[in-house]
Amino acid sequence: MKIVHSLADLRQALTGAQRPAFVPTMGNLHDGHLALVNQARPLGDVTVASIFVNRLQFLPHEDFDSYPRTWEADCAKLESAGCDLLFAPRESDLYPEAQTFKVQPDPALADLLEGAFRPGFFTGVCTVVMKLFSAVYAGRPEGVALFGKKDYQQWRVLHRMVEQFALPITVVAGETCRAPDGLALSSRNGYLSEAERAEAVHLSLALRSLAREALALAHALPERREALEAQALADLRARGWQPDYLTVRRRHDLQVPQAGDALVVLGAARLGSTRLIDNLEI
Ligand code: PAF
Repeated sequence: MKIVHSLADLRQALTGAQRPAFVPTMGNLHDGHLALVNQARPLGDVTVASIFVNRLQFLPHEDFDSYPRTWEADCAKLESAGCDLLFAPRESDLYPEAQTFKVQPDPALADLLEGAFRPGFFTGVCTVVMKLFSAVYAGRPEGVALFGKKDYQQWRVLHRMVEQFALPITVVAGETCRAPDGLALSSRNGYLSEAERAEAVHLSLALRSLAREALALAHALPERREALEAQALADLRARGWQPDYLTVRRRHDLQVPQAGDALVVLGAARLGSTRLIDNLEI
């Protein structure tokens, strides 16, 4: 696996590539990231991953400084997953000056759920991903980009960004990878204490039971949705969590569902000082 840091070296390393298959990450890689790399390999003529902890998508009180950085282990994992090229820009490579031009995602999709609790998060994500895309794909006829469904809203926002800017990129989603007990793999799971780690699966269990109840309601869901969600929030609070949302939404635009819509349940909740998110398509 070749490792490059500067845009110039990336361009050089990608000479002749026609269809890069690209997995952007912030590092601290787990099996979910590696599954995306495996999924990427047959989709392009070169498999590229990036590692960049993007300051723009962290709020001032969030964990930018303490976000886990595990460079050596990440390189070894990418190498063994068959990644061809790792782009690991320094901040000065990607943001040589203050980033004053930004990509503003559609508020109808990006200002709810994660965007409501982390204002500016999706602007930071879209801006860095647009910069990464322009670094990896510029001058090429096409490309493939892979994002995990664990960050469901992020995948939807980036997919719409690609569609609306008519970028010649196919966005592919990877299924959420889970630990044997059902906890969705996430870099932030490493913040959990032993007791919190044992409790953490209850976010996905809460989503599972919300999904079951939503399905059972079928056509009565629109009238009963808020009551179901309120009960799910209360149940999780009673276990010591501080939930931000547990909600049933329409899959494609994350709006409140009407009868007959394809559904996803999504949740975000804090356990101690760790904020976890998860979702389930139903
Ligand atoms: O999901 C992530 O790791 C990040 O949000 C991404 C897409 C790499 C942008 O920084």
